[in-house]
Amino acid sequence: MRVPEDKIEAYYDALSAFWHPVARSADLVESPLGVRLLDRRLVLARLEGEAVAFEDLCRHLGAALSIGDVVEGCHLRCRYHGWSYDRTGRCVDIPARRGRPIPREAKVRRFHTREAYGIVWVCLAGEPQHDIPPFPEYRDEEFHKGPLRTYGPWRASVPRVVMAALDDTHFPWVHPGILGDPSQPDPPEHEVWREDGRLLSTYTMLQPDNDTVASGEDRPALEKVTYTNHLTPTSIRLVKESAAGTYVIWQASSPISWDETLVFSYQARTFDRGADRDPDYERLQDEIQEQDRPVVESQRPWLLPPLSSRMMLYIRPADLPLISYQKWLEELGIPQQL
Ligand code: FES
Ligand code: FE
Repeated sequence: MRVPEDKIEAYYDALSAFWHPVARSADLVESPLGVRLLDRRLVLARLEGEAVAFEDLCRHLGAALSIGDVVEGCHLRCRYHGWSYDRTGRCVDIPARRGRPIPREAKVRRFHTREAYGIVWVCLAGEPQHDIPPFPEYRDEEFHKGPLRTYGPWRASVPRVVMAALDDTHFPWVHPGILGDPSQPDPPEHEVWREDGRLLSTYTMLQPDNDTVASGEDRPALEKVTYTNHLTPTSIRLVKESAAGTYVIWQASSPISWDETLVFSYQARTFDRGADRDPDYERLQDEIQEQDRPVVESQRPWLLPPLSSRMMLYIRPADLPLISYQKWLEELGIPQQL
């Protein structure tokens, strides 16, 4: 199914007002890093200790600055003819023109950049209109945090990826024996509401025994768990309460393009707090992601179709969280695809 160019452009425009994760802070050390966001090539660099994002395009003859060098920790130098840019994006050295003034136009476009949770975030709009997706457990000592991980890129749009984490009625089908039980396909009762510009949903269900829901001896085959999901249009934080304690998955999706999504993810838990246990939790998460991936990548159209089109036949009450999320995107003017 072809996607009209104007729909893609409108989608990029709408998402450009949000902060998006683009790289691990730890990966931004001595060399520049080329990334793609909303189909735009960016170069990231750490200049004078600050993470910066520029258009990945030298103002001289258009070479990619991401294949250049960071010089003395403060300038980004193009590999082609050695033009150097400072952290504001202004050109400060043209080796073939030393001793003469540098043209005023010799600068590259700089985008808003921030660092939070060990991640570099970029907003492409003139002024960011939203906050970085909250992750309160990051600094909460009650929680042990696993390492930052990335998944993908998946061949899917960001809303499809977020909805895969929001939707629980697929658990018995896609994650049998881990998150759901095929003999219990009845959906839980969902409550969905808005708060402080976010969407929240909660539900209680029975989940098969796994490390994230139970601990100790005599674990029952099915454990009662309550999820509370906190959403922004591009992220989800799943907070799961069970006999084991509180287990959190935080996922922020980066729209590399309209049909490619990279997920930055953390796990946090109040129990089983040893870092030596992290690989077991990572394996479980990897398995779940790999079960989701082929299904999500198979979904069409790539961008969500408008609710009014009835191209997706939601059922109530089971799909209430998904309907609410999609309605919310429509209200925020994030375009859909017919
Ligand atoms: Fe970058 Fe010439 S293209 S210095
Ligand atoms: Fe899933």
